Amino acid sequence: MCMSRLGWPVTTGQVERGHCMRRDNNYQRPDEKTTSSAKQYTILDCLGWAARDASGYLSPYKFGRRHEIVGVVKEGAVGTFNYVDVDGTITKGGYSSYVVVHQRYCFMIPKDYPSALAAPLLCAGITVYSPMIRRKMNQPGKSLGVIGLGGLGHLAVKFGKAFGLNVIVFSTSTSKKEEALTKLGADKFVISSDQQQMMALANSLDFIIDTASGDHPFDPYMSLLKTSGTLVLVGAPSEIKLSPMGLLRGMKSISGSASGGTKETQEMLNFCAARKIYPEIEVIPIQNINEAFERLIKRDVKYRFVIDIDNSLK
Ligand SMILES: NC(=O)c1ccc[n+]([C@@H]2O[C@H](COP(=O)([O-])OP(=O)(O)OC[C@H]3O[C@@H](n4cnc5c(N)ncnc54)[C@H](OP(=O)(O)O)[C@@H]3O)[C@@H](O)[C@H]2O)c1
Repeated sequence: MCMSRLGWPVTTGQVERGHCMRRDNNYQRPDEKTTSSAKQYTILDCLGWAARDASGYLSPYKFGRRHEIVGVVKEGAVGTFNYVDVDGTITKGGYSSYVVVHQRYCFMIPKDYPSALAAPLLCAGITVYSPMIRRKMNQPGKSLGVIGLGGLGHLAVKFGKAFGLNVIVFSTSTSKKEEALTKLGADKFVISSDQQQMMALANSLDFIIDTASGDHPFDPYMSLLKTSGTLVLVGAPSEIKLSPMGLLRGMKSISGSASGGTKETQEMLNFCAARKIYPEIEVIPIQNINEAFERLIKRDVKYRFVIDIDNSLK
C-alpha cells in the first residue's frame, strides 16, 4: 500500500515482469513504416515492463482495461501508479494477476534468465547501467567509485566488474565489507566516514556513481575524482551541497540520471544474460509485505525483495 498524492489506498508495483498473454498486431506506432516490422511475441515469451520510455513518446493506444501505461511525455512523466494518465484515468500499479501494457514498454527477458531475477534489472539495473554506458564508465582499466551498497549500488558493482573496472565501494555500513569484496567482487571497500581511507584515494577515480538514498556530503567525493572526472547522481538525497571549488579545480562534472530508455533497457537485459549478471534478491509472497517493509526500515535486505504475485494470489 502507498501514501498517495491523489487518493488511497492504492496498490503500487512499479516494475513488473510476467508472461505475454496477447499482443495486438494491428497497432502501428507513428515511427513504424509497416506493422510487419513489429516484433511478434508468443504466449511463451517472458516479458518485463518498466517505468519509463525516455524517447519522449507515449502511446495513444486505447486499452479496454487500464492498469498502467507509463512513459515520459513532453508535459511530464506518467508514473506507473497513482498518477493521472493522459486520458484522465489514474494509473494503478502492477500488483495484480493481469496487467495491460503496450508492447512499446515491454522487454524480452532473455531465455533461461530467471524471471524473478529480471525484475530488479528493470529499475535498479537500468538506473545504474544507463548512466554508466552514457558516461562511458565501461572502459576496462578505469576506476569507479560506487557510493551506497543497496539495490542500485550492488548492481553498479556487478556492472563495473563486468566492464573490467577497478571498483571501490563507499559505504556507511562496516557489516557490508565482506560481502562487497567476496560475493560482489569489489576491489576495495571504504567506510566513507574514515577520513584517512578517503584521503588516500584523492584524485584517483575516473567516475563515481552515487546511489546513496540519504543526505551526505559531496565535497569529500569530488576530491577523489581525477581531472575531468564525473560523479553521476542516481540516488535521491534531499539536497546537494558542494563547494564550487570542488568542481572548478580539476574541471570536474556532476550530473544526474533517472531510469533509462527502452533500447538500452533491452541491451542491459541481454548483457546481463550474456555475462551471467544476476541481482541479489529475496523472493517473498505478498502476504509477507508488512514484514518486508519493517525489514526495509532496518536496512535488512540483500538487496531487493521480489514479490511473487503469481503464486501469492493462487
Ligand atoms: N534515479 C532513478 O531513476 C532512481 C531509481 C531507483 C531508485 N532511485 C533512488 O536511488 C536511491 C537508492 O535506491 P536503492 O533502492 O538502492 O536504496 P537502498 O537499497 O536502500 O540503498 C541505498 C543505500 O544508500 C546508502 N545510504 C543510505 N543512507 C545514507 C546516507 N545518509 N549517507 C550515505 N549513504 C547512505 C546505504 O548504503 P550503505 O549502507 O552501503 O552506506 C543504503 O544501502 C534512493 O534514493 C532511490 O529513491 C533513483
